[in-house]
Amino acid sequence: MTEVLEMDDKGHKVVITYGTFDLLHKGHINLLRRAKELGDYLIVGVTSENYDLQRGKLNVRQSLSERIKNIELTGLANKIIVEEYEGQKIEDVQRYNVDIFAIGSDWKGQFDYLQEYCKVVYLERTKGVSSTQLRGYINLGIVGSGRIAKRFVPEARFVSGVNVDWVFNPNLKSAEDFADKLELAFPTDKWEKFIQVVEAIYIASPHETHYEYAKAALEAGKHVLCEKPLALTDAQAAELYDLARRQKLVLLEAIKTAYTPGFRRIIGLAKSGVLGSVKHVEATFTKLVRGTTRELDPRRFGGSVTELASYVLLPIFKLCGLNVREVSFLSMKQEGGVDLFTQINILTDNCIGIGKVGLGVKSEGELVISGTEGYIYVPSPWWKPNYFEVRRENWAENRKWCEVFQGEGLRYEIAEFAKLITNGRLETPALLANESIAIAEVIKKFLCGKNVTWLRC
Ligand code: CTP
Repeated sequence: MTEVLEMDDKGHKVVITYGTFDLLHKGHINLLRRAKELGDYLIVGVTSENYDLQRGKLNVRQSLSERIKNIELTGLANKIIVEEYEGQKIEDVQRYNVDIFAIGSDWKGQFDYLQEYCKVVYLERTKGVSSTQLRGYINLGIVGSGRIAKRFVPEARFVSGVNVDWVFNPNLKSAEDFADKLELAFPTDKWEKFIQVVEAIYIASPHETHYEYAKAALEAGKHVLCEKPLALTDAQAAELYDLARRQKLVLLEAIKTAYTPGFRRIIGLAKSGVLGSVKHVEATFTKLVRGTTRELDPRRFGGSVTELASYVLLPIFKLCGLNVREVSFLSMKQEGGVDLFTQINILTDNCIGIGKVGLGVKSEGELVISGTEGYIYVPSPWWKPNYFEVRRENWAENRKWCEVFQGEGLRYEIAEFAKLITNGRLETPALLANESIAIAEVIKKFLCGKNVTWLRC
């Protein structure tokens, strides 16, 4: 546990309080002052970034060290500790011989369980100010009203500082039905009006329209979060990133896995050498689809690769690097249909990547990252990672990891998008422009039939 500002707490009446304290404001300062007045030694618990993620508090603007620094500057805290996990409060109260636990009245009743250990006081919250309010709101409009957009809206509601009120669809009835179902105020089929009022858009329209919508939005000065695949060729993807850079706008491809705490942890571990040198990455994603849907329509760029390859190529490019020497495909389809199963083989400088995707063949959806010292095994569904193992030759050295993954997981990409916009940054290490362009290049190669070996099924 991290501690700063430590003083001798013996013989004092000890008060403890907790919070995120993002963008420290007068409500926080009032609270700290009144908490301190309850005793003569104040301990302030500041939530860690990871703990905030775990409890679903997304889009916190300042880092832990910035938030701690601000509390220090108030001169009110005698000790600052970091709150890192659920259940820590009881341990802290016992460890620091706390007499009083104090917290704002918005938490009324929720910490009564601590009465067994100390006095619990709910202090009146200062009206009219909050971190959420100070972060401001991003007015995010949705383009398209299909299945993924339906899942997006409830997920966006978990991200503080993001407002979704507008939905655009060239078919007004679809936009209206969508707005009705998801309680959005403004459905429209008028692009000009829509793009003028929103600050950022989320593109969830069919694949073949992504590029045009993204380009039009960036030209209009709006940030873009675009469903995968961002574009169907690397040239188009590169053009969009270039445009975004020139316009100083955020362009993010919505490959949800990239932004999840679990996937970030997996990549961080694999890159930090615990596996030795990574030599082989194999990822599988299959999802059976039947009937007459867009996913199975070759005229609408359906198929296993366009639908699912973005996912499996993500860990491959992140870990095998972007110096691609060879790309080839082994694929199956019915006469006149889309690819129902494809194996993508990628050879980079010193690593082999295998991605398997299927809409008509079911397989185990796991990810295995193999290195010279061991491997990471992520069980199905690896693209929603909440558990994985690091396994080594000596099994006694194996480790199991759990990570948070909430809801549909779209909230993490939305939070990252909002954070980039509010912090004025254009790129995130979670998914670099070059990685997204490399993914588009593989999709283009497949669509052009380059190095594709077909099997009829
Ligand atoms: N607090 C307060 N008055 C306010 C805002 C916060 O008394 N206007 C108190 C909270 O009740 C809590 C502490 O300050 O005891 C830290 O709260 P935190 O959740 O970090 O601040 P908020 O501004 O409520 O943050 P957010 O909007 O992100 O929920």
